[in-house]
Amino acid sequence: MTKIDENEKICVIGLGFVGLSTAVYFASRGQEVVGVDTDEGKCEMINRGESPVSEIEFLVRFKASSSIPSNASVYFICVPTPSNEDGIDLSCLIQVCNELRERNDGGVVVIRSTVTPGTTKNVVAPRTNSDRLVVNPEFLQEGKALKDSFNPSRVVIGSENPELGDRIQKLYDGPFLRTDWVTAELIKYASNAALATKLSFVNEIANIAKLLGASTEKVLKGVGMDQRFSPSYMEPGIGFGGSCLPKDLYALIKSCERVGYDPKLLKSVYEVNEGQAKRLVELLETRIGNLKGKLIALLGLGFKEGVEDVRGSRSFPVIDELLDRGARVKIYDLFESNVEAFKNRYGDSIEYSENPLKGADGCLVTTPWKGVNALIRGDVPIIFGRPYMGFEKFEGLNW
Ligand SMILES: NC(=O)c1ccc[n+]([C@@H]2O[C@H](COP(=O)([O-])OP(=O)(O)OC[C@H]3O[C@@H](n4cnc5c(N)ncnc54)[C@H](O)[C@@H]3O)[C@@H](O)[C@H]2O)c1
Repeated sequence: MTKIDENEKICVIGLGFVGLSTAVYFASRGQEVVGVDTDEGKCEMINRGESPVSEIEFLVRFKASSSIPSNASVYFICVPTPSNEDGIDLSCLIQVCNELRERNDGGVVVIRSTVTPGTTKNVVAPRTNSDRLVVNPEFLQEGKALKDSFNPSRVVIGSENPELGDRIQKLYDGPFLRTDWVTAELIKYASNAALATKLSFVNEIANIAKLLGASTEKVLKGVGMDQRFSPSYMEPGIGFGGSCLPKDLYALIKSCERVGYDPKLLKSVYEVNEGQAKRLVELLETRIGNLKGKLIALLGLGFKEGVEDVRGSRSFPVIDELLDRGARVKIYDLFESNVEAFKNRYGDSIEYSENPLKGADGCLVTTPWKGVNALIRGDVPIIFGRPYMGFEKFEGLNW
């Protein structure tokens, strides 16, 4: 581990998955860290030593505040950059940059949020001091956020000033990839686009295998045994969700259009993904007939197994499709917070139950988890949206 830099006082702005992981990483190395979040309740929890994100364990405590301190030497910006019609909503980032400009305290500003190529040059630099800007995208996966932060696949440092890049590099162990701002920004998008492309490819092959009566599992295993392709990230299913892959793919498509390039492949990746939810509902219909008036149990709401996070969950388009066809929907998830998020979205339009298969005409397992099989009853037709332990016993969307 690199020696800590006692001269640096770190401020992490935005304490979600990325900000918390970043703060815990630096604090556990012995760096002085203060976290900032506009959510005061979150700051209070952190100051009590409780983590607002269950998977991010506080190995070392750090202080949090709802206002940005004036004496930090490095500000890591980790605020959300959600989707909007133009591709990306930069309002939180702009708000933080404006506040930092007013302070003008000489601190280095590190963009850790995912931002579309050109954002640092065109949006951030005019609002801060461009001599003090570094792009340092995060690549962690939810479900293993801290593990990824402590063992990153790469630490990308984009700077236009080598000394500044060196200063930020000193805070990490690597492996490093040094570059300029726009390249660092595009590496993040290209990485997520590559993962999304792989998943849509896998889903398309799996759909074809099912139609041809081939074994999806064996076909994908056979492809993954080629060392040029790698067997990981080869799970077929209802598509990729979460707070990153769909939004980043969409933002990249919009960025391409702005520079006059038509990203045909990326658009197809998006379309294949969007189509999977409808395919699942159509498959159920072929098994139990017209869905109008039928009660369908839907199990698993997180965007992937084991997460308390429904952002971009593929259960949303599945429910929308079921409701469009006149079905009644009853949902279940292990995490109360996931169920609450669906209650906020659907209210009385759907039902909620601890005993979801009771009275159901059919069941869809959208996000399976360990133990889901215990809920399943033999008399209710069931289709899995994704493979999970013991999935071979059940019909799946594309196996
Ligand atoms: N979640 C991931 O797996 C992941 C992985 C890599 C990169 N990213 C990117 O990192 C960024 C943050 O993602 P996240 O998942 O951690 O977000 P998040 O929604 O989990 O957390 C963001 C936090 O920022 C706070 N916030 C919002 N506006 C603020 C402001 N003006 N000042 C201070 N705090 C503010 C919110 O209250 C929230 O606590 C996004 O750009 C995202 O695309 C996310």
